[in-house]
Amino acid sequence: MADNKEISAKRPFKKLIVGNWKMNPEYLKDAANILGKIKKAASTKRKVDTVICPPHAFLGDLRKYATGKRLTLGGQDCYFESAGSYTGETSPLQLKSLKAKYVIIGHSERRAAGETDEIIAKKVKAGIQSGLHVILCIGEKKRDKDGLYMQDIKKQLFTNLGKISKADFDRLVIAYEPIWAIGENARRAAKPADIFEMKIFIRRVLTDKFGKISPGAPFFLYGGSADDKNARDFLEAGQADGLLVGRASRDPEVFERILKIGEELS
Ligand code: PGA
Repeated sequence: MADNKEISAKRPFKKLIVGNWKMNPEYLKDAANILGKIKKAASTKRKVDTVICPPHAFLGDLRKYATGKRLTLGGQDCYFESAGSYTGETSPLQLKSLKAKYVIIGHSERRAAGETDEIIAKKVKAGIQSGLHVILCIGEKKRDKDGLYMQDIKKQLFTNLGKISKADFDRLVIAYEPIWAIGENARRAAKPADIFEMKIFIRRVLTDKFGKISPGAPFFLYGGSADDKNARDFLEAGQADGLLVGRASRDPEVFERILKIGEELS
């Protein structure tokens, strides 16, 4: 089991702050405007890796912003085949050709649209094999008093990671995103203690499945109503290695404050 001592050990790596813009904004010029400001903010944060995942339709035009070391781009999903007759899909290799370095897989909004754990497993493998860093999103729909939701998390991890090996962990990021904490309808974000508990649980499940794992990999992110008011708690008391930020990543001033908190805590 991953014990607290291991997790709280001082680690040499940076914080990873990822913005998921979902299907926003409507116009490329607005996307470019926001990203230009984020690039400026990210360029002064030496201890934070900033990743923005804009809509795929804008990736080609936005890649010029991601030439610096501190800001990279990612996709919001990818298909598990590398080419072929798959109308509407984007392959991991296409994302790579647009200079994306990351891809989000298994976001709860895609799961709600019918994506199964098995499909997600294939996408995780395809993304990693193509040389992308995969941000796998997992999370429970609701919490029960008896802690049965932990079994949901375990099942997602076992199935979603069923096609990769421990050697792939340096290309894997796990984002814990409890579904009840995501988006405008969320009643609240998770509590830092819940996040820390989940980090330990996830590492224990990974150890059961893959054997002993290193302290630094996979990275562990928290997502769900993260903003500049709660980021510090998630990173400090919650011991998240970074954040997956939805709404607050489209407001450059709020997002800059989150990056600043990441820089201070690294
Ligand atoms: P939110 O979204 O920050 O707007 O809650 C997070 C996510 O869906 O990844």
